[in-house]
Amino acid sequence: MGMILVVGSLNMDEVVRVPRVPAIGETLLGAGSLKLVPGGKGANQAVAMARLGASVMMAGRVGSDPFGERLISALHADQIDTNLVVVDSEEASGVAFIFLTADGDNAIVVASGANMLVGRDEKHMAAILHAIPRVQALVLQLEIPLDTVSALVAAAHKAGVPAILNLAPAQPLARDTLRQLTALIVNESEASLLSGQQVETLEDARVVATVLHEQGIPNVVLTLGAQGALLAMSDASGKTRVIHQPAPRVQVIDTTAAGDCFAGAFTVALTEQRALEDALRFAVYASALKVTRFGAQPGLPTRAEVDRFLKDGQ
Ligand code: RIB
Repeated sequence: MGMILVVGSLNMDEVVRVPRVPAIGETLLGAGSLKLVPGGKGANQAVAMARLGASVMMAGRVGSDPFGERLISALHADQIDTNLVVVDSEEASGVAFIFLTADGDNAIVVASGANMLVGRDEKHMAAILHAIPRVQALVLQLEIPLDTVSALVAAAHKAGVPAILNLAPAQPLARDTLRQLTALIVNESEASLLSGQQVETLEDARVVATVLHEQGIPNVVLTLGAQGALLAMSDASGKTRVIHQPAPRVQVIDTTAAGDCFAGAFTVALTEQRALEDALRFAVYASALKVTRFGAQPGLPTRAEVDRFLKDGQ
């Protein structure tokens, strides 16, 4: 099996448990001490795929600080190739401030630091562009500059390499870029931003996934938290077909990186040439397992765990 390339963010997550998200001007007492956890949507997706058995290469940028060192070591611990992760001598490593509520939900603010320089350094960008035609798939998110994302999607399209984009955090992107993707993965709020239509019910999700697919995006995946996920694609006759995969019931501890786990698992299944229905089920079950565990990267499941969960729901 070939290599999957992730170009994206690496953040140190600073996590505090809170009774609720604070209001403006309010000081809240959190529970327990601050936890430092390796995260960042790009790095989380890379780790998710490596744990699910893929060969993964990560491209990104960290600062020359202790967080940068820890973020790179975390990737090495999962045998991820970090030759395209550059250490910036001036900018700090990305940091995400995460408020984690008792029901496992979160509110996150990211101080991007070096992540926002990905693609700005010509030599680094040239090395990433050189790698693209040699990989089996390219995976992207939006915690790096949007023009870098568009340029990389165009390069993958030109090289015939499938590009999978998780449009998180939600930001508008040119339709031409979206049409060059193999798969677009969005949650309810990201889908609403792209389509201009609210996604509150399963029926809304069906309508919006269909609209986005019919605008020329080959495979549109809409994740729905506890309701699972929807996929809009074309059937053999070219007509839009939408499938829904419900999620298994689990005890939610921490939803951080559930979307990253989903994107990683879906991509791994695609590179294994599995049917789209199977890829959707695999990704829904993998991310359901993630939410039962604390922390972005520490909570990501292994292949054996996901296979067992799919087989007998344990
Ligand atoms: O998707 C979860 C991730 O978002 C966290 O790990 C945090 O770093 C933010 O980037």
